[in-house]
Order: sequence, then structure tokens, then C-alpha cells
Amino acid sequence: MPYPHLQKFDPEIHNAILAEISRQRAGLEMIASENIVSMAVLEALGTPLTNKYSEGYPGKRYYGGNEHIDVIENLARERAKQLFGAEHVNVQPHAGSQANMAAYFALAPVGSKIMAMNLAHGGHLTHGSPVNFSGRLYTIVAYGVHEKTHLIDMDALRSTALRERPRVIVAGYTAYPRALDFAAFREIANEVGAYLMVDMAHFAGLVAAKVYPDPVPYADVVTTTTHKTLRGPRGAMILSKIDDRFDAAPTQEGEKKKNLAQKIDFSVFPGIQGGPLDHVIAAKAVAFKEAQTPEFIEYQKQVIKNSQALAAVLMEKGVSVLTGGTDNHLTLVDLTTTGLSGKEAEKLLDSVQIYTNKNMIPFDPRSPFDPSGLRIGTPALTTRGFNEEEMKVIGALIARALLERDSLAALEEIRAKVKELSEAHPIYPELV
Ligand SMILES: Cc1ncc(COP(=O)(O)O)c(C=O)c1O
Repeated sequence: MPYPHLQKFDPEIHNAILAEISRQRAGLEMIASENIVSMAVLEALGTPLTNKYSEGYPGKRYYGGNEHIDVIENLARERAKQLFGAEHVNVQPHAGSQANMAAYFALAPVGSKIMAMNLAHGGHLTHGSPVNFSGRLYTIVAYGVHEKTHLIDMDALRSTALRERPRVIVAGYTAYPRALDFAAFREIANEVGAYLMVDMAHFAGLVAAKVYPDPVPYADVVTTTTHKTLRGPRGAMILSKIDDRFDAAPTQEGEKKKNLAQKIDFSVFPGIQGGPLDHVIAAKAVAFKEAQTPEFIEYQKQVIKNSQALAAVLMEKGVSVLTGGTDNHLTLVDLTTTGLSGKEAEKLLDSVQIYTNKNMIPFDPRSPFDPSGLRIGTPALTTRGFNEEEMKVIGALIARALLERDSLAALEEIRAKVKELSEAHPIYPELV
């Protein structure tokens, strides 16, 4: 048993953890925002670093005994800077939502205008949902995709920006299968005098491997989670320029003049967080080191090849794929012609141990709780070593489950095939 102390002291939690490891082993994880971290990342997470308080930043802490924590946070920062060619990095945000909150607070006084992608068109909750802090604290102007092509309508985006004059334009998504034109975003931001913030949570790993457009040269601030394509621990970070393009104007009266990097740091701590999660920061540093290896670049190339193979086979089997394919790690399926809702499709695929998630599609007539789309991603399966040939088999299984859902025999055959595929690519053999 890998967790003897847990097993002895807390069998209920121990059993649930083992059951979850078995679920991850037995099924095909195709939720686009998930991945499978290495044993090295897992080891860093489970260390006594969790005991430490280290409010502040390396060399300037509010608690004693931080000499080793400083080494770790400095390594994480330096590796991230190198990996993305960033001028400044803050590795403390606990999660993507906190990274976005800290970035907004650094760039835009509460109440000001932020322009971001419509949630139904692929934006994230923190891009202005009325039930999220972003929508409650800021005036949100949404942009979206073209009704016919389902691609971001840059002309419409520009006219909205010219009319609304937002303080920040956010590029980035949680469910959009195509490349973004960061140079065009930058041009529009310049034209209207806005900051450009890019939320690359979904595609950070692809950017690190240079297989997707790089937002870092164009954006004032780039936020990202560390646990999706980047394949690190659950958490986030903020990359930024050092200089503030708007001449370091204080955001609050009486506030000392700061450059952009200082504003970001001040916004994370003491702005919205207390003590950093040092064990997670250590695990981030490990993941950034992994991301600097040639294997990681090959992995990211394969993520995209697998994603394109999957989209192609789905279409071949009669399943509608938005925009007719994908440039990244995810595919958006439009279920309207299948007679299934997103919720039903997700549940159906769960029953054959293929894990995906229901998703809104642009101009969705249904609700976010039971939308018309399904999002399917390849990062986790690619980590397990699946290739395009296997992805074609999996795509065919998904299509068959959706289209032959009333046949118990078909579903039974799909389950058996999923088992065979999963067993061919085991995970965490060390944790048996
Ligand atoms: C684009 C984007 N930004 C931010 C987040 C929020 O990250 P977290 O769940 O870590 O708060 C997500 C999560 O799905 C996301 O997709």
C-alpha cells in the first residue's frame, strides 16, 4: 500500500483515494482541462512544505525560517520566466480564478470596464459571468464568435472595443478549438488604449512547447493555471511585463506609484491571498523543469495530433464538430442532431468510462445546466501514451455510444474496448 499511515488512521479517506486512483486507471479521461501529473510532481505535493507560512516574496517575508522556501519560489519563478520568455512571474496564485482576480485588480479599478469572451461562446466564468466576482465587480462587455463560422469575429470585436472603450481586453477561453491571433488583439487594445490580458489556462502547455501562438510578446499580463495542458499541480501563475504601458498610474488614491510587475505582486499578496502554498509552488517548479525537456515538446505535438485525429473520426462517423476541426487540445461537439443533450451525452459516456463534459455551444438555445455541446480533450490520454491510431478507435467508440445508445450490446462492447485500451496504458504503477 502506498499510503500506510492514511490506511491505518483514516480508512474512509484512504479507501476513497484508492477508489479514485482505480477510476483514473480504468477509464479514459477526456476532460480537456485535466491531465495526469508525474510522480515527481506528486512527490513534491506531498511534502512537509505544507507546514510553512511564508507570506510575502523571496527575500521579503513576514515570517522567519523561509530560507529554503525562498530557494524553491525563486527556482519556480526563474524556470517559468525562462519557459515562457516572460519579464516577470508570480507563482503564488492558488488557482486560475485567483490569478484572474489578482490580474483584474492590478489592471482595473472595481467598476471599470472589462471586455472578454462570451461564456456561451467559450469564455470562462471569471471572464464576466454575472454569478462570478468578475461580473459582480466589473462592467463586462462580451465579444463572441461569428454565427456562421463559429470563429472569433475580430471585426465585431474591434467595433465593440471602439464603442465601449474597455480598460482591459481579455483574450483566452475555456472552450474554443482554434488558434487566437494575439497580434490582432494587441492592435485593437492599442487602438482603444486598453491593457491586453491573455488567460492561457487551457493552452499554456502548447505555448510552452511552441505548438500554438505565443501570447507573451503581445500581452501586458498573461494568466494561466498550471494543471491543464501544462501538466503541473493544481494552481496558477501570472506572467507580466515589468513596465506599465499606462505609466504606472496608481489604481487607488494615495497608493505609491508601482510598475506593472509590482502591481501584480501587490495584488496577489496582500491583495487577495495570504500565505502561499509552498508545497504546490515546489510542484510547479518541478513541472516547469519537465516542460523544458524535449519529451515535453513531443508530448504537446502529440496532444494536437491526437486532438485532430479525434475530431476527424468523429466527423467521419456523423458527429458534428464545431468549426470543422481543431487547432488545439480540444474538440467541441454540437449534439443538436443526435437528439441528446450535453448532460445526457456526458452521463452516457460516463457509463462506458469515457469522461468528458457538457458544454455550451455558441448561440445555444439550451441552458448552461443542460447545454447542447460536449467538450472533449486529449491532454490526459496523450500523457498515458495514446497515439492517433488509438484516438481514432476512441473517437469511433464515442460516436457509437452517442448514436447507438439504445443498444445495450453496443454499450457493453464499448465498455470492454475501453477496458482493453486503459489496460494497455497503465498509470501510476508505483501506487498499487
Ligand atoms: C480559461 C480559464 N481560466 C481560468 C480558469 C479557472 O481555474 P481554476 O479552476 O483553477 O480556478 C479556468 C478553469 O477551467 C479556465 O478554463
